[in-house]
Amino acid sequence: MTDQYAIIGNPVQQSKSPIIHLAFAQVTHQDLDYTKIEGHDFTADVDAFRARGGRGMNITAPFKIDAFAYATERSERAQLAGAANALKFDGDRVLAENFDGIGLVRDVTHNLRCALKGQRVLVLGAGGATRGALLPFLAEQPAELVIANRSLGKAQELVAIGAAKGHVRACTYADLEGQTFDVVFNATSASLKTELPPVPASVFTGCTLAYELAYGKGLTPFLRLAQNAGVKEVADGVGMLAEQAAEAFEWWRGVRPDTRAVIELLTVPLV
Ligand code: ATR
Repeated sequence: MTDQYAIIGNPVQQSKSPIIHLAFAQVTHQDLDYTKIEGHDFTADVDAFRARGGRGMNITAPFKIDAFAYATERSERAQLAGAANALKFDGDRVLAENFDGIGLVRDVTHNLRCALKGQRVLVLGAGGATRGALLPFLAEQPAELVIANRSLGKAQELVAIGAAKGHVRACTYADLEGQTFDVVFNATSASLKTELPPVPASVFTGCTLAYELAYGKGLTPFLRLAQNAGVKEVADGVGMLAEQAAEAFEWWRGVRPDTRAVIELLTVPLV
């Protein structure tokens, strides 16, 4: 019987996960189906999917914390993020993973060939996206990781989590005046509202990569600011999306698909 997988979210119609996973299945010759589920009651919806023979799920907003709670076993990555973006069902066992951060780091270091080791890295925002990327970033051993957020307290909470694993500090946007970075990530949700985080353009002096975690939005206000400030390379999160999917696919199926074709297919020009 064809194995069933799905993404659950609300809204979910915008999700590219079915396209990605069905493309992976084709090239790796895996017999699986992958659908979208618009979630309303997370537990009831997932129970129903499992009763229909569901083998695994991806989780998008607003259910990543519900998915974490639903699991019976949680990876270290999921525990550190406090959220799950993938579940695997094995009888009564429900395994939770979070591949967002590792997918981001793989896109940056592998696809974009931008090593983070020894670099000065700035991350804007201190929400779920930054939380998920925190330890994968620190594992790359940047010279320093700075988390800037409007509310300093949230950034300081993340620093407390990461402090034992590397050089990480918190600051406000105003504190960024006069500081420069090699790589800058926008992990705020500002771009979803076509807003610009109040980051001073001076942070981009000498910067080699500006990366927007959102994808499919074209040249966001953040990327435009970076480009105008002379940043050599700007990227959005299409590669992160494909790489986190590849991690989940390998976790479920034991085979790692190549992501190049999917990234090409889903890339929206940054104009
Ligand atoms: P996600 O899971 O996408 O990270 P989240 O947990 O709600 O979403 O976090 C959103 C992040 O975007 C927060 O860091 C938020 O900053 P505050 O904590 O100060 O609210 C940030 N954010 C959202 N809109 C922003 C804007 N216009 N400018 C700067 N930061 C913004």
